Amino acid sequence: MREAAMLISFLLVLQAFHWQSEAGAKKSSVDDMVLLTKITEAAITDNLKRRFMEDKIYTYIGPVLVAVNPFKQLPYFGDKEIEMYQGAAQYEVPPHIFSLADTMYRNMLIDFDSQCVIISGESGAGKTVSAKFIMNYITKVCGGGRQVQHVKDIILESNPLLESFGNAKTTRNNNSSRFGKYIEIQFSRGGEPLGGKVSNFLLEKSRVHSLNEGERSFHIFYQLCAGANPYMKEQLGISSVDNFWYLQQSGVYQVDGTNDAHDFQETQRAMTVMGMSEERQMDILRIVAAILHMGNISFSEQNNAAYITDPNYLAFPAYLLEVDSGWLGQKLVSRVFDSKWGGKSERVDVTLNMEQAQFTRDAWTKGLYSRLFDYIVQAVNSAMVTDANLMNIGILDIYGFEIFGRNGFEQFCINYVNEKLQQIFIELTLKSEQEEYSMEGIQWKPIQYFDNKVVCDLIEEKRPPGIMCILDDTCATMSAKSEGADEDFHRKMESQVGTHPHYQKFTGGFIIKHYAGNVSYHIDNFCEKNRDVLFPDIIEVMQSSQNSFIRSLFPDAISSGGAKGRPSTAGTKIRMQANELVTTLTNCIPHYIRCIKPNETKRPRDWDDQMVKHQVEYLGLKENIRVKRAGFAYRRPFSKFLQRYAILTQETWPQWRGEPTQGIIHIMKAINMDPSQYQIGRTKIFVKDPESLYMLEESRERRFDHHARVIQHAFRKYFSKQRYMKEKMEASDLLLKRKGRRANSLNRNFYGDYIGVEYKPGLASLIPRREKIEFALTVDKFDRRFRRQKRDLLVTKNAIYMCGRTEIKKGPDKGKVIDVIKRKIDLDNLAKVTLSIYPDNLVLLHVRNDYESLLYVEFKAELMMVLNRKLKERFSRELHLDFSNNFEYRVRKTGWGGGGVRRVVVMDGARKEPEFSSSGSTLTVRLTHDLPPSTRPGERVITAEMRNEISKMISATSRPRRNGPRSMGGSRHRPPNSRLEPNSCRGQVRPPGHGRHPMLPTDPAPIPNQPVPQRPFGRAPVPPGSVSGRGSIRSLKGPSSSNNVTGRPPMPIPEMYNPPPPPSDPPPVNQPTINRAPVPLPPKPTIDRPKPQIPTVKALYRYDALDTDELSFEEGDVLQLVTEDASGWWTCNFRGRQGFCPGTYLQKL
Ligand SMILES: Nc1ncnc2c1ncn2[C@@H]1O[C@H](COP(=O)(O)OP(=O)(O)OP(=O)(O)O)[C@@H](O)[C@H]1O
Ligand SMILES: [Mg+2]
Repeated sequence: MREAAMLISFLLVLQAFHWQSEAGAKKSSVDDMVLLTKITEAAITDNLKRRFMEDKIYTYIGPVLVAVNPFKQLPYFGDKEIEMYQGAAQYEVPPHIFSLADTMYRNMLIDFDSQCVIISGESGAGKTVSAKFIMNYITKVCGGGRQVQHVKDIILESNPLLESFGNAKTTRNNNSSRFGKYIEIQFSRGGEPLGGKVSNFLLEKSRVHSLNEGERSFHIFYQLCAGANPYMKEQLGISSVDNFWYLQQSGVYQVDGTNDAHDFQETQRAMTVMGMSEERQMDILRIVAAILHMGNISFSEQNNAAYITDPNYLAFPAYLLEVDSGWLGQKLVSRVFDSKWGGKSERVDVTLNMEQAQFTRDAWTKGLYSRLFDYIVQAVNSAMVTDANLMNIGILDIYGFEIFGRNGFEQFCINYVNEKLQQIFIELTLKSEQEEYSMEGIQWKPIQYFDNKVVCDLIEEKRPPGIMCILDDTCATMSAKSEGADEDFHRKMESQVGTHPHYQKFTGGFIIKHYAGNVSYHIDNFCEKNRDVLFPDIIEVMQSSQNSFIRSLFPDAISSGGAKGRPSTAGTKIRMQANELVTTLTNCIPHYIRCIKPNETKRPRDWDDQMVKHQVEYLGLKENIRVKRAGFAYRRPFSKFLQRYAILTQETWPQWRGEPTQGIIHIMKAINMDPSQYQIGRTKIFVKDPESLYMLEESRERRFDHHARVIQHAFRKYFSKQRYMKEKMEASDLLLKRKGRRANSLNRNFYGDYIGVEYKPGLASLIPRREKIEFALTVDKFDRRFRRQKRDLLVTKNAIYMCGRTEIKKGPDKGKVIDVIKRKIDLDNLAKVTLSIYPDNLVLLHVRNDYESLLYVEFKAELMMVLNRKLKERFSRELHLDFSNNFEYRVRKTGWGGGGVRRVVVMDGARKEPEFSSSGSTLTVRLTHDLPPSTRPGERVITAEMRNEISKMISATSRPRRNGPRSMGGSRHRPPNSRLEPNSCRGQVRPPGHGRHPMLPTDPAPIPNQPVPQRPFGRAPVPPGSVSGRGSIRSLKGPSSSNNVTGRPPMPIPEMYNPPPPPSDPPPVNQPTINRAPVPLPPKPTIDRPKPQIPTVKALYRYDALDTDELSFEEGDVLQLVTEDASGWWTCNFRGRQGFCPGTYLQKL
């Protein structure tokens, strides 16, 4: 009931504030498209549109997240949402990228398997933004404290750094990734980030020198121009953007919503976080500036030979690159060729024509830039490198599929990588899933889909050769920028793949029918871009730089034949990288985000139906839904399943010994899993709905919770016992051989607060807030006529307070009785304490330069121990104790009366209980000795015993399993390593306080009248309902009390302090004089009362169940006791239900 109520209130809270709240709105769309009534592309598009218009950009297809780019900031990515999605099951909360990120993180911790997320979608669909949300979420929830903060900073700061060097404005996206990135965050077993690794894929470096209309070069160029300080500007020769040809050619300098100057600061900051020194940062910017300056070198031509139009333009780039300007100029207009002649090799310096010179300049700058970019990636990697590579979360954010007006080699490579990603998606979500069902013998009706492997093969196959092989072959036969190579390639393609259904030729190019649409590629420069070599001349010039950083970017070994070995082509590189990536991804547990771009205008609330429908089609969402709808959410090999859920039944813990499938069925039955929710295959179990999986997980977690609680309880008990024993020994040391002991005086635990000051605001307010109360007990104070008056004795680190009550005589509160301090003794002024050697309770406090106080203190040994401790802590001195059976003390002088000296004589009597008689100024106390002064408190071999107890309790933790169906409730699924939410009770012994399981570490029975030491003590709590200390302590000792502790019959358990009776009314302030009869013994318990057939227990305090298998009850309720368990959890019947109750809240009747 309580769970259900919690769930309802949780949902109400959710509804109240959540952005996807359906409150008041009609439900017009589905969160998970598996639930769509019609599965058509139109219905999917419509569902996405409805949600988009309501600012709900996320929708599921089972575990796949579909994310529509809203082109505006939405308010649900803050800390509140991060908190909300942590550990929340997918179905509990609205679809969100945080949910996917959380699933990845938790799965990693549960299975110790690496996870990856493949974010796909066309350019501008929101992949990079999604990747950042995931990184942000994971770094926020993965904990780890300050020592891993640095790793987190690097992971997060790598984004602006790599974006400034690798992203650019295109017509499709203002912040388009012009490189692919796979970032892996590496974690410890505990889930803390230890480091990371970035792999980068083929940068579109031609953007350095040529821009399409409406586009910009890489952001860093504009950032430098806008954000450089005057010193940098001067050093780097930086001026306005339109002074540089490379930036000028497209005429686009500004990007909406981008502040380049501000971003420059961010880039610099990121470089600092990566550990780059200021000099290194300057070196980097030097190269960026040099590229811009080189772009301004222009050429003229005479007699087919190029020359530099204005050699003055050479000086600045040469200065920045720290190379000889003459040599730089020479290598721009000439090149050394190796010519082979009659078996001899000869180096010939050939003059270039104007076009070739321009080509050389551009090859130089783009080569320089791509090496700089690789350096930056490497710097990020060095900053977060770690040896430990236990498990990781990989995030793939690659350049999206793109179609421009004119598409070249770069688009060919980019679209090829996207084709590969689509292939992985198909392989893992459509193909292998279906294959697995048939392999495992699961009933299955195959679902048809378009497999784009045919397109991948067209591009990358070796035999028969695909387009990349044909291109490589063509490049291998060309020496330099040879004329006609592209045409040659075009011809070869026609002959080798001309008949392929996904290939089509046109004049000057070819069309590929990609999964995402037909793209026409122009063959110009395909060969040159694929060859991707830097001429040896250029490398030589760069290696002559005076700047060691620049030299380090060109480590190439140059032989007379040029760069050593046959250089691999760009096509080969990207093909290899793509295939390596596929291997990496298939070694992880994959997750998918399918990004959808709703329009080409980049405007919010603009929905282009056709455009979205096209994406829905090519992303294969319809097929995805079909497979998911008919398929299973979860699968596990038998052994893994049995291992994970072994804890759910006694028979499967720690290991199931029988047939694995029988073990699985046993577990499923034990948790009442609906048989239609799972199927057992040949090697794996398949679970249909995520909810069923959560049910398994939640049941498992509850078992862990319970065990953790019991273990903690045992440990607390163990440590408390140790502490109590230490305190008792301390007290015993003070009195040993000096004062007689009463049988039970030290055989009880020291609780400190016997009043419950926490619950007595009037009394608590008398003590300064900062003073922790170390001891609180109601005592008797003897007045000058030896009459006993009640005082609340409070000891703090600073003072002893004796508090009483007084009636207000005047004013509006006249007649009201309030607590007042009657006497305060600063601890520093406590000169000594006198005790007799008899086992009486008399304590005489001697105060420096003041009168003494004679008290009757029930727990004097504990008081002495506390005073001694405090004096040692505060004043580095021991408590001065005097032992005497005949001592004098001064009484307080008040007004005309008072003053004088009194005497106390303690002598042998007939009884153990002290008998007081007074005559004149002498108080005589008679009593017998009980135990000799050399008696130690009952010591026990705690360690071994407790160890036994702990192991006993651990094995006894198996509270009988609840057999009824488990409600999923609102409690969230949390794997064992998940971070605890604040206030979460999971895995903790319940804290002391109202309605919580009490922690009385020693005594098997509660001490009802001992108040809860809460704030000031933090010791063993007593349930709050019992706070009645004041009255109860009073009732212990008043002459009228029949329950004097000293008069109790011997305790059955020596350590136990028998509880005093319930609180009585406060006694009168003034007590009668002492000449009294011996304190009567407490009435004997009614042993002959017939025992009920079923034992019953009475609730001493109210208890609110924290779990569905616990019982709630009110103080005074009577329950039937079924079993007592060593863990302290008793099984009881109450109001027709059976459940667990904390034994310490109950008293057997
Ligand atoms: N969740 C989002 N919230 C707000 N704006 C977004 C969101 N997703 C994307 N955008 C906007 O769309 C732009 C393009 O997104 P992003 O750069 O992530 O696209 P991409 O898929 O990485 O494209 P490319 O393949 O070109 O790199 C972002 O700069 C941002 O303005
Ligand atoms: Mg991007």
